[in-house]
Amino acid sequence: MSRNAEALATIRARAGEEPVKLGLILGSGLGHLAHAVDGVAIPYGDLPGFPHVGVSGHNPHLHIGMLEGVRVAVFGAREHFYENGNSAAMRPAIEVLKDLGADHLILTNAAGSMRPDIPPGDLMLLSDHINYNGRNPLIGERTDARFVPMTDAHDPDIRKALSDSAKACGIDLKDGVYIWYSGPSFETPAEIRMLKLLGADAVGMSTVPEVILARFMGLKVAAISTITNMAAGMSDEKISHEHTKAMAPLGATKLERILRHYLNSLR
Ligand code: HPA
Repeated sequence: MSRNAEALATIRARAGEEPVKLGLILGSGLGHLAHAVDGVAIPYGDLPGFPHVGVSGHNPHLHIGMLEGVRVAVFGAREHFYENGNSAAMRPAIEVLKDLGADHLILTNAAGSMRPDIPPGDLMLLSDHINYNGRNPLIGERTDARFVPMTDAHDPDIRKALSDSAKACGIDLKDGVYIWYSGPSFETPAEIRMLKLLGADAVGMSTVPEVILARFMGLKVAAISTITNMAAGMSDEKISHEHTKAMAPLGATKLERILRHYLNSLR
């Protein structure tokens, strides 16, 4: 049995055969929503191919079950490129999500803002992204399917639905371009000045490879950043992973309300 087939069999044995509608990957400090899923939590360690996640503030379980009346697969943690230099680390997990029947994937992350009008605690819906890291998780893929179009990679219909949900909840959901910086060190102020010139609004260390992988597999995608800090050099506040984890819950409550409203709208 292939690695993915084994993971799929384990999931089906524990969570049942019913397909899921969508997947949700939770970013740093945003793990709370996973525990609201009415279903089962399967440790990544039980699922061949799933990442060995080493970043604190993450919950390495796949939660499958009902949330707001929709059957979901919530990934409590991701492997970042900076952990092992593998931009395709989330590939098996996203392939299994597709095999579970999902038609779309919503990604969340913590990010630093380069826009004074998007301060810490705010949420930003990704209108687009820049792969500044340059690594591509599809390098080595042999078929022509690797030439994935990335126009509208962030699905306009899902983005509209998420914006509508935010409005309905009275939450200000900003819109902007996310740029993928490798990490794990944070950026220098000079790098941030450069990233701003390149047209980015927020910077983070994840999400972009997952968008590419999901589009490759034919899943629709949308992503939301929780702004945990102003990017380097833009404020006096000290940037650290501790700070990211401490600040993520500020946006997490709003993010959870938007996602719950969105799921309700799918019923
Ligand atoms: N830079 C990169 N990644 C981040 C940041 C940042 O300022 N904040 C949270 N994740």
